[in-house]
Amino acid sequence: MMISSSSTSPSSSSLSSPYFLAAPSPLIPATILLVLCLPALFYLAPHILPPPPPPPISFPDELQDLSLFRRATAVETQTNKPKSRLGSTNSKPKIAFLFLTNTDLHFSPLWERFFTGNKSNRDLYTLYVHADPTVNPKIKIPGGVFSEDRFIPAKKTRRGTATLIAAARRLLATALLDDPANQFFTLVSQYCIPLHSFNYFYDAVFEIKSHQIAELSQLKYKSFIEIISDDPYIWDRYNARGGNVMVPEVPFDKFRMGSQFFTLTRKHSVLVVSDRRLWKKFRLDCLKPNSCYPEEHYFQTLLSMEDPKGCSGYTLTRVNWTDSVDGHPHTYYPVEVSTELIYVLRRSNFTNSYMFARKFSPDCLEPLMNMASDVIFRD
Ligand SMILES: *[C@@H]1O[C@H](CO)[C@@H](O)[C@H](O)[C@H]1NC(C)=O
Ligand SMILES: *[C@@H]1O[C@H](CO)[C@@H](O)[C@H](O)[C@H]1NC(C)=O
Ligand SMILES: *[C@@H]1O[C@H](CO)[C@@H](O)[C@H](O)[C@H]1NC(C)=O
Repeated sequence: MMISSSSTSPSSSSLSSPYFLAAPSPLIPATILLVLCLPALFYLAPHILPPPPPPPISFPDELQDLSLFRRATAVETQTNKPKSRLGSTNSKPKIAFLFLTNTDLHFSPLWERFFTGNKSNRDLYTLYVHADPTVNPKIKIPGGVFSEDRFIPAKKTRRGTATLIAAARRLLATALLDDPANQFFTLVSQYCIPLHSFNYFYDAVFEIKSHQIAELSQLKYKSFIEIISDDPYIWDRYNARGGNVMVPEVPFDKFRMGSQFFTLTRKHSVLVVSDRRLWKKFRLDCLKPNSCYPEEHYFQTLLSMEDPKGCSGYTLTRVNWTDSVDGHPHTYYPVEVSTELIYVLRRSNFTNSYMFARKFSPDCLEPLMNMASDVIFRD
């Protein structure tokens, strides 16, 4: 923009100079055309040409991740007897919440209420935060559930790149290693809010009915992940890294799409962090940034290839794509926040109602807190 405006003025003033008017020659029209076109080119270039590709994930970063993923996978396969392992420590199965953020955790007070609303839930969840190291987020309730030790070693993330896959895998691997009682792994962002109480969510994923105790049988449970094969944009998404680059690992008919936000079983989390084959393709840089959302394809494609029956096929996180702009969904502002909105957002066409929703602007915190106990956490 700066270049185009500064180069426009000298060229237009030279057009009105006496030289151009007095001395016509066959070369002049071409020169005028060139002089006229240059600023236009400067102006249009960034709009026509794609921006330069983002820097790839660096080799040292990749090695560090690989070592973390290897450890997580090794621990799991060496001690693959969840019943005896957990039975001896007598711990109940937990849900690991994986917060992926590159800003402040705007809704941490609301999440604090979600987790601590019922004191007897203290042993049923663990929290992990992957915060962009260049941002250093501020937590609104110091010493609460989001204490410093919940922050995991993080790396910079960038929209439209495989860094978002890498960050989610880092969260999964850390949570796998940290606590064998973690049986479900729920990914959320700073723009997500809960739509139900923790107890409601816990009972839904563990399929608990009327005061049962959660079972540890991993075979029984499904991952909640959206898996779509017939989206109108899927061909563009498939070719975002260039033609024919995804084969043979990912043929087009195996390529899937879905929400970035999922709740995975422990078995599927291990599968994700142990994968090398698909990552090799999904980590490639995109040539078409407008079609590039690797985090909406990698997990969906991998799990649909490896264990489609073990996946629900839908997400538990509601999002409003009406009138979306530049790949961003509708953002809710305080004037829209109401009891009715919470009820509408919960409504789903699937077996479970929605448990979380996005995206909410940070100033929705106050109206949401005001209706926390009477609406959001009342099921
Ligand atoms: C509190 O948590 C316990 C154990 O998870 C559960 O049995 C109880 O119903 C919960 N109480 C409320 C009010 O949600
Ligand atoms: C979704 O967003 C549109 C505006 O983009 C809004 O009119 C509509 O009410 C929203 N739907 C829900 C269920 O919130
Ligand atoms: C449920 O399905 C209907 C019909 O396909 C659709 O109009 C509606 O938007 C769906 N609701 C949600 C919450 O996705």
